[in-house]
Amino acid sequence: MNWNEHYNYHFPTEIFFGPGIVEKLGEHLKNQGLKNPLLVTDEGLSKLPLFSKIFKTLEKEGLKPVGHHEIHKNPIKSDVLSGVKNYHDQKCDSIIGLGGGASMDVARAIALKAYHERDLFDFEDSIGGDKHVTENIPYFVTIPTTSGTGSEVGRSTVISDNETKEKKILFSPRLMAKAVFADPELTLDLPFHVTAATGMDALTHNIEAFLAKGFNPLCDGLALEGIKLIKESLEEATHRPSLEAQSKMMMAALIGATAFQKGLGVVHSTAHPLSTVFDLHHGLANAIMLKYGLEFNLNSCKEKFEFLSKHIQLEDSSSGGFINFISELNQKLGLPHSLSSQGIKENDIEKLAALAHKDVCHQSNPKTVTEFDFRIIYKNALHGEK
Ligand SMILES: [Fe+2]
Repeated sequence: MNWNEHYNYHFPTEIFFGPGIVEKLGEHLKNQGLKNPLLVTDEGLSKLPLFSKIFKTLEKEGLKPVGHHEIHKNPIKSDVLSGVKNYHDQKCDSIIGLGGGASMDVARAIALKAYHERDLFDFEDSIGGDKHVTENIPYFVTIPTTSGTGSEVGRSTVISDNETKEKKILFSPRLMAKAVFADPELTLDLPFHVTAATGMDALTHNIEAFLAKGFNPLCDGLALEGIKLIKESLEEATHRPSLEAQSKMMMAALIGATAFQKGLGVVHSTAHPLSTVFDLHHGLANAIMLKYGLEFNLNSCKEKFEFLSKHIQLEDSSSGGFINFISELNQKLGLPHSLSSQGIKENDIEKLAALAHKDVCHQSNPKTVTEFDFRIIYKNALHGEK
């Protein structure tokens, strides 16, 4: 930390939050002079009552929403291009991303491509594609239906190539939603294992943001509140859903994704290859790896772990107490604690470690992580300790 340096922080998303708030969306769009939103969501969600409820609230305000449901679990380029075609064919004037990470990714990429002629992958972050984002971006709204990824407040989208399946990250600050409608009621009926795994993703975001290198007291403060909210509510949200618990989790997920503009860390770097190679749910991968990633970091920032233990008022306020809290929480949520439980074998570790080392997230980890370190972390997680 250096008080003489210059820093740049972004917290500009307008957020409408609370049970039933989604019913205000139609009025909000109308006030912007918009009439025909493209409502992007996955096939499964499009068949649920919550989808028709949102559709009807928009129609009630005189809007003419158009559904787009061609979305793969790991979105591909053609999902985006068919959405862009739909957007123009149906003369849409705005885009709504409704759902978890995949729907938001496709909706955000449609918003990007709608008025840009270039190939979608010209906007890839790793080749500085951001500089090509020069044209109009349609009014873009996000509605999360899980409390985890926080991609409703994000600025990037991950789309895979149709043939090679290679994942491309497209990024621009202009891809941030103009408005987020965060309605905890939408998460009340989620299967408990989805609430548990997505909640652990949100917890990992908050913890890794707090521990990340760099100077960002705004994000540190947010992350601390996010961790506290999750301690208070994740178990209840999973096993005994209530509006209060679901609201706290939805807020904690928004907070986590806002806070991780500071950076993430070793846990996300170990989780990413588990999803790309073994198709593990992102939240589940984080839930398994969190304890082992934190154990790796423990000695480099012991005082921060002690601070966290005290902050959430654990009985054991030592640095190790915080890691025990994580394992116990995982157990209470009914989540697995080892990679072997997911069919991962010892001879997979080398490949996983190489991919994890290439992942960018660990660049902001409080401690340098080598490929060898990744192998040890995965080995520790292979059979777990409990
Ligand atoms: Fe995550």
